[in-house]
Amino acid sequence: MSTGMARPRIHLLATGGTIAGEADPAGDGARYRAGVRPVEQLLAAVPGLDATAELSAEQILALDSKDMTPADWLTILAATRRALADTTIAGIVILHGTDTLEETAYFLHLTLPGDKPVVLTGAMRPADHPEADGPANLRAAVCLAASPSAQGKGVLAVMNRTAYPARWLCKARTHGLDAFESARPWTDGRPDGRCADLSPATLPRVDLLMGYAGAPPELVDACVAGGARGLVLALTGHGSVPAAWQPALARARGHGVAILRASRCAGPVDHNANADDDREGWLTAGDLPPAKARIALMLALARGGEAQSFLQLEE
Ligand code: SIN
Repeated sequence: MSTGMARPRIHLLATGGTIAGEADPAGDGARYRAGVRPVEQLLAAVPGLDATAELSAEQILALDSKDMTPADWLTILAATRRALADTTIAGIVILHGTDTLEETAYFLHLTLPGDKPVVLTGAMRPADHPEADGPANLRAAVCLAASPSAQGKGVLAVMNRTAYPARWLCKARTHGLDAFESARPWTDGRPDGRCADLSPATLPRVDLLMGYAGAPPELVDACVAGGARGLVLALTGHGSVPAAWQPALARARGHGVAILRASRCAGPVDHNANADDDREGWLTAGDLPPAKARIALMLALARGGEAQSFLQLEE
């Protein structure tokens, strides 16, 4: 019997991950291969999902997300923008490996307009696990993407019955269904989209270096020699630059490489606090964690213009 209620159309973009993984026969049950099962098979494991939404799906990648590259982000961005432009589609669900889910989510958060829900999800257990979490996560992500409450929140993620805003989401644990955390609830999410009009063919190389006891300054020179146009420094404390790095960082600045101070700790790293950033020509991450600061810097460089004010834009 028809209820007469139109179901929203939700489009799935599958990129691989453990949610599409299977046990590796070579791994004694302890290992698995991510990104093996096609999206049609993942959908078949969630009976009745089409009562919530009219579903369509595309397999755009089949990766373990540790192997995701900035070129893959651009592939996901193009597919998401194509789907968002379709007026029959109400929301998007992206199936993704959990390891770099927060990076892709934040990249999309900055590059999508935020007018329709975009929800990422994954799984901590492979699809052939007797208690696989992927089907429940997929169901929750489709329900959220179909819900008016997800509108105006920016890019979101769902894992283990919890929704998270892309800006604050992080994978905090290697094991367990509750692997994700967020400093803020999903209801605090706001669209960002500061690069929604940007369509770069490629993204500039930005490398990430960690500060630690005895970290050799040659690492800085190696990144510059390798073609980096920016360096994000995941430094100790409130973004403290090792004295031994100063000459190498000055050389990098001399080559026009953008240097951004971030912290290994929870932020913030404030501009001109604890270092003379203006004199050195350094940028600062505020409370963006290093991997997300890297994405913001890549987009700032791709866009051109003044980078610090771009980085300081907050929700
Ligand atoms: C991956 O990130 O693709 C593998 C790990 C996972 O999805 O949990």
